[in-house]
Amino acid sequence: MDLKGRHFLKLLDFTPEEILYMIDRADELKAEKKAGIAHRNHEGRNVALIFEKTSTRTRCAFEVAAADLGMHSTFLDPSASQIGKKESIADTARVLGRMYDGIEYRGYAQTIVDELAKYAGVPVWNGLTNEFHPTQMLADMMTIREHLGRLKGVKLTYLGDARYNMCNSYMVVCAKLGLHFTACTNKKYFPDAELVAACEKIAAETGGTITMTEDVAAGTAGADVIATDVWVSMGEPDEVWAERIHDLLPYQVTKEVMANAGKDAIFIHCLPSFHDLNTTIGKQISEKFGISEMEVTDEVFESAQSVVFDEAENRMHTIKAVMDLTL
Ligand code: CP
Ligand code: NVA
Repeated sequence: MDLKGRHFLKLLDFTPEEILYMIDRADELKAEKKAGIAHRNHEGRNVALIFEKTSTRTRCAFEVAAADLGMHSTFLDPSASQIGKKESIADTARVLGRMYDGIEYRGYAQTIVDELAKYAGVPVWNGLTNEFHPTQMLADMMTIREHLGRLKGVKLTYLGDARYNMCNSYMVVCAKLGLHFTACTNKKYFPDAELVAACEKIAAETGGTITMTEDVAAGTAGADVIATDVWVSMGEPDEVWAERIHDLLPYQVTKEVMANAGKDAIFIHCLPSFHDLNTTIGKQISEKFGISEMEVTDEVFESAQSVVFDEAENRMHTIKAVMDLTL
């Protein structure tokens, strides 16, 4: 299999075999790193990392992975570059494409990363858009496989805002890899009908299923994986908090949810997470709305079923695999 020169914009663009190939490569790179075996396979190459939204994991994963592969990386944040304000995406892409071997983009609309890819002439990697978070999916599937030993047939239930990047991406990757996906939330937050239909079509070929439900007991019963995400995503206005808390609190991941899931169920979350009051926003929300935990309780977050830090580590191994295979 050869992915050289390919963009990594969304998992809908890849076959199940290609997705598994990237996860397998991440497993190899992780084992090598743990054994102290260097893999400076891309010595002398350069990558540009554009972040129009903030990041801890994705930025660090790209920087560490690039260094481990022998590459140099340049971090560009929008306040310190011309992107968008004085220079269009198409022009930026053509400039960076002359200097760099690959470009990562985190930002707003998927159309922006698509535009970068159209003009760059080098591989472009999506580090999160409003619609999709594909590098996160490789890490999440790698983590599920590490803990459960399989992917096909696994029952994954997502609770929370199911219209945004994380849930969209879970639905796609589950369909591609033959998992049973359930979005369990208030129907106002069900994913886009067109994307659901596309995923149902893919799932029909892979043995997966796609389910939407408002019923927490039914949606989480026997699940192997419980997933959630923040209720308000980057770039959304503060005004939506009140409505989100009202609508999504019934879909908080609690110990009752985990008890209703399968006995060996794991909990995953892309992070960052509001599970306690140790953040500025967590404190502000608590003062305003009187809740101390949001999408997941601290009890579940800190429990043995929670594999969120394995998942965070795997961001680096999977992002390294994507760069290694596409460059
Ligand atoms: N999960 C994730 O993408 O984290 P960052 O926003 O910190 O990159
Ligand atoms: N849905 C979240 C994911 C963060 C990694 C956001 O877009 O802010």
